[in-house]
Amino acid sequence: MKTRTIAVANEKGGVGKTVTVINLAAGLSLEHKKVLVIDMDPQANATKGLGIESAEGKPSVYDLIQNSGAAVVSDVITQTQWEGLDLIPGHVDLAGAEVELVDVEGRENRLKEALEKLPTDYDFVLLDTPPSLSLLTVNVFAYARQVLIPCQTHPYAYGALAELCDTVNAIKEEINPSIDIVGVVPTFFDARTRVSRQVLAQLKSDQRYKALLFKTVVRANTTIAESAAVGKPVVFYRKGSFGAIDYNDLAEELLNRR
Ligand SMILES: Nc1ncnc2c1ncn2[C@@H]1O[C@H](COP(=O)(O)OP(=O)(O)OP(=O)(O)O)[C@@H](O)[C@H]1O
Ligand SMILES: [Mg+2]
Repeated sequence: MKTRTIAVANEKGGVGKTVTVINLAAGLSLEHKKVLVIDMDPQANATKGLGIESAEGKPSVYDLIQNSGAAVVSDVITQTQWEGLDLIPGHVDLAGAEVELVDVEGRENRLKEALEKLPTDYDFVLLDTPPSLSLLTVNVFAYARQVLIPCQTHPYAYGALAELCDTVNAIKEEINPSIDIVGVVPTFFDARTRVSRQVLAQLKSDQRYKALLFKTVVRANTTIAESAAVGKPVVFYRKGSFGAIDYNDLAEELLNRR
């Protein structure tokens, strides 16, 4: 079985990366897929959103990439309370990795190397990234084969999309020839606002993104924020909500898209 490794990335902050990781992972697990989330963000929001406390001394992805290389992957995989949904937690210490690894040769491949011994029975590995092209994000890009881009239906977010595509192309040339964009998912869509409708229309008509755009549009839905705050994917927290429906749809679409 071949594991699909997907980085959820956008250098812009607050566009729905973490929520997409959590809920896509949950949606895929509902489709009986075995899923691992790797939280590569010092904010550790994906960790909290999956109901796991990120605490001092707890094993995390930091232990995998830090210089001593003390941990192996089996030490840091944590089961969540949901069947088929595992996590390698994030940690605030990740914020120091950039500085700590500055002189280390091959520092952009730390994660990739640590994951060589990852159990092969995962159908999906979804990786959350911080809102910057930091060493952490580059480590994720060096490992993942696909990039999923959440794009807020907001004019600035639309403008930044071209830059992001350039970034992925640069990574493909210099670090990871196997990487490709699997798709762009519009987020925070609100049909009542003109900007939301305009940006979605722009995305749909733009030749650069047409083929990449997911049919699923994630609507702005307060239940999503609520569920993240209580540490539960929305698909488990409130089944019939717009958020649950949209992320279930996205999971299904991703399964059908190679
Ligand atoms: N579709 C949505 N509807 C309503 N609120 C949402 C939606 N998606 C995300 N949110 C909320 O918006 C905030 C930002 O979302 P999220 O944390 O997923 O963004 P992010 O891109 O990961 O941010 P960062 O760049 O800081 O990591 C969070 O409070 C989240 O709960
Ligand atoms: Mg985030």
